[in-house]
Amino acid sequence: MPSDAAIGIFDSGIGGLSVLEHVRSLLPNENLVYVSDRAHLPYGEKDKDYILHRSRVITQFLISQNVKAVVIACNTATAAAVKDLRETYRLPIIGMEPGVKPAISLSKSGMVGVLATHGTLNSHKFKALLQQHADGSEIIICPCHGWVEAIERNGHDHQTTRQIVSQQLQPILERGVDTLVLGCTHYPFVKQMIADEAGAGISIIDTGPAVAKQLQRQLSAHDLLTEEAKPGREAFWCSAPPEQTQKRIERLLKVPVQVQLLPELD
Ligand code: DGL
Repeated sequence: MPSDAAIGIFDSGIGGLSVLEHVRSLLPNENLVYVSDRAHLPYGEKDKDYILHRSRVITQFLISQNVKAVVIACNTATAAAVKDLRETYRLPIIGMEPGVKPAISLSKSGMVGVLATHGTLNSHKFKALLQQHADGSEIIICPCHGWVEAIERNGHDHQTTRQIVSQQLQPILERGVDTLVLGCTHYPFVKQMIADEAGAGISIIDTGPAVAKQLQRQLSAHDLLTEEAKPGREAFWCSAPPEQTQKRIERLLKVPVQVQLLPELD
């Protein structure tokens, strides 16, 4: 039965908006509820149980908002929690993972760089992904320390953010990669900085569009796509005082938004 219930999307912060933008353009009439767990970021530096707990309580909150599907718009939280959430809840749960497979098909040199958080790169899920697809290619990983905090605190286009990105990219670029994977949803916001640093001839893979398509397929398979003809609405929630997140969201999405303080979930 078609449903006008919203789609829930969450991340540790504003990173998941890079996914929300693809969802919005593919599914313009769906209502969306977005949760930024800013009080608990960076997920990438926390242990698995902590992220699993946050993912459970946020999913529970989204379900209390009547969502019909949940998108874990965070590679780190997907690695820690997607299996558990799918076993616990019956609604479609869409996760994400670094685009290693498309990067390997695209790379001519067979040298691929993966930019992701420490949590993602150290997860069983990521190790299994490499085992499955990386045969014959060289995968160089870069745990991008401080990128998420810099994007959240200073902004995606700030000079300090550029310095952090540039410093950590150098060693991986010197290894001769020709393809870079954005394995964290915050990084599409610094894609231009990465491209400037990497120079011509380096491809950059973002899995946001594929996640939006997967969501569309899942909704269609469960007969959950809205039949509404008017543009959908967005609601935003944040676990930290919402002022700064509101400003960041408005700058990224270029529309005024209201961000509400997430109730205590523990
Ligand atoms: N945006 C998250 C991801 O895709 C990571 C953010 C964090 O470390 O808090 O992995």
